[in-house]
Amino acid sequence: MQYHKHEAVIVGAGGAGLMAALYASKSVDTAVISKLYPTRSHTGAAQGGIGAALANLEEDHWEWHAYDTVKGADWMGDEPEIEFMCREAIDVVIELEHMGLPFDRTPEGKIAQRPFGGHTNNITKKPVRRAAHAADRTGHMILQTLYQQCIKNHVHFYDEFQVIDLLINDGKAVGVVAYEIATGELHVFHAKAVLFATGGFGRMWKITSNAHSYTGDGNAIAARRGIPQQDLEFFQFHPTGIRGMGILITEGVRGEGGVLINNEGERFMDRYAPTVKDLASRDVVSRAIYLEVKAGRGINGEDWVWLDVRPETVNYYFERDDIRNPDGTPRRIDADYIRKKLPDIADFTKTYLGIDPVKDPMPVQPTAHYAMGGIPTNVHGQVLIDEKETPLPGFYAAGECACVSVHGANRLGTNSLLDLVVFGRSAGKHMAAYCQEVDWAPLPEDAGQEAEAMLEYIRNNDGSEQVAQLKTELQQIMTDNVSVFRTQELLDEAIEKIQALRERYKHISIQDKGKTFNTDLLQAWELGNLLDLALLTATSAAARTESRGAHARDDYPERDDEHWMKHTLAWLQPDGSVKLAYKPTRRIKNPDGTYKYPAIKRVY
Ligand code: FUM
Repeated sequence: MQYHKHEAVIVGAGGAGLMAALYASKSVDTAVISKLYPTRSHTGAAQGGIGAALANLEEDHWEWHAYDTVKGADWMGDEPEIEFMCREAIDVVIELEHMGLPFDRTPEGKIAQRPFGGHTNNITKKPVRRAAHAADRTGHMILQTLYQQCIKNHVHFYDEFQVIDLLINDGKAVGVVAYEIATGELHVFHAKAVLFATGGFGRMWKITSNAHSYTGDGNAIAARRGIPQQDLEFFQFHPTGIRGMGILITEGVRGEGGVLINNEGERFMDRYAPTVKDLASRDVVSRAIYLEVKAGRGINGEDWVWLDVRPETVNYYFERDDIRNPDGTPRRIDADYIRKKLPDIADFTKTYLGIDPVKDPMPVQPTAHYAMGGIPTNVHGQVLIDEKETPLPGFYAAGECACVSVHGANRLGTNSLLDLVVFGRSAGKHMAAYCQEVDWAPLPEDAGQEAEAMLEYIRNNDGSEQVAQLKTELQQIMTDNVSVFRTQELLDEAIEKIQALRERYKHISIQDKGKTFNTDLLQAWELGNLLDLALLTATSAAARTESRGAHARDDYPERDDEHWMKHTLAWLQPDGSVKLAYKPTRRIKNPDGTYKYPAIKRVY
């Protein structure tokens, strides 16, 4: 076992991890540990934009952004935290610009912005241009920019190291244990503070936009160390994944005027969201696609629809709906404009479908995309371990693995990149201050031994169960039972089946017993993470007897504010059961005692 010592240790090299590292490294010795090469992190898959009320093209205000986020979250987000994020958004986007991020530009040279789902002018209720973007590669550009800044700031990078345990001693986080993928060596990292920015866990579903690496590692490690997971029942399905593959087709396509079309050639979002139409929030659009399919209006009676961004279609609807440019002239686009604004989409559709989106519509279906829930934190990224919101000293989380909670029951597009950089920055600052304040706490005497025993169990176990088979079964259960529409029966059945898979998981065996690049071993370990998180997700969902945001129950179709304006906390118990508790959502009141954001029914 090798030992390392860094004051701040950050696990994960996506947008949140790199932003936290950049800020921590301004004053303390900082290391980033990543299972991937940093610029391959999943932030690179976020395409369409980062939300900020810059008002570069039309009137906009951070307060409008905040209200849209509260509404998108279906009143499950914490309002002070939402205001914090939307206020900071403007400054953080300008900071990224100053770091060198190559945003698209308006003719006057300002950062370009496009409309995105759920972002509105709060007066007219029409879509507002709020998504600052670099073509359809915004996440990729954020990743490259922050990585370069971290290198400049002398952050230490441990690439292709899989963190497998969090070390806690005397009630404080004091380090992590990591497995070096190239050699199979175990490394203990002693730290004053640890931050998890390990991303999501969409790989528990069959059709997902998530990278293969999205197996919930940080969430599962925390859960096994007795830390609760908040609001896991809220998992977002993005409406437009490539049919059968799930690969993301950015909402930016609809932001540029693209429309969803059913088998009857109808732009069906006219019916579901008469004001914002295809730019309603994602839960609404994904449900609309399912309802069209259920009514037999999927293409050829199947489970998908067309996404059409051909200039003739877009211009037809621009004309029909009298959509105008900021200067008041009628808005029209051509093929060159689409190619310039959506180059990666043109590339993906050519590679995976053999089609050109300016000539052909794209076949799409909802795809498992984003975990609104995760490790509970405050705005400083401090991890909160109970209903009373007690922080665990030295332990931080940011990005998709965390739940601040700003996305509530349904995240707006562009708010994920924003969440990464806003809360990455604020966590990095807080952890640096904490590291400067505290003395080194000792490592536990047995540091690394539990992790070693767990990996050796997987390596040497002689069971009859195969990892790939169990994973396929898990993905089928989650797709059939814990998807866009849910019922008690489906969710209870999912819990039973996941528990059975967890039992069978004890009897897995792997073929590669070696040390060098043993992906067999790591995939087996990752499956254990997915199974634990699937159990927590299904159990949290089964208990919430209402419909809110992405959690839509056929048997409880209404939002129930009287009983359910509260966050779920779910603990994985040592005996394999799940304990649930709740804490109220945080709301803001006006001086006269009324709510600043009254909980109304969402109408689009
Ligand atoms: O549709 C997209 O470009 C995805 C962005 C997001 O999830 O925020």
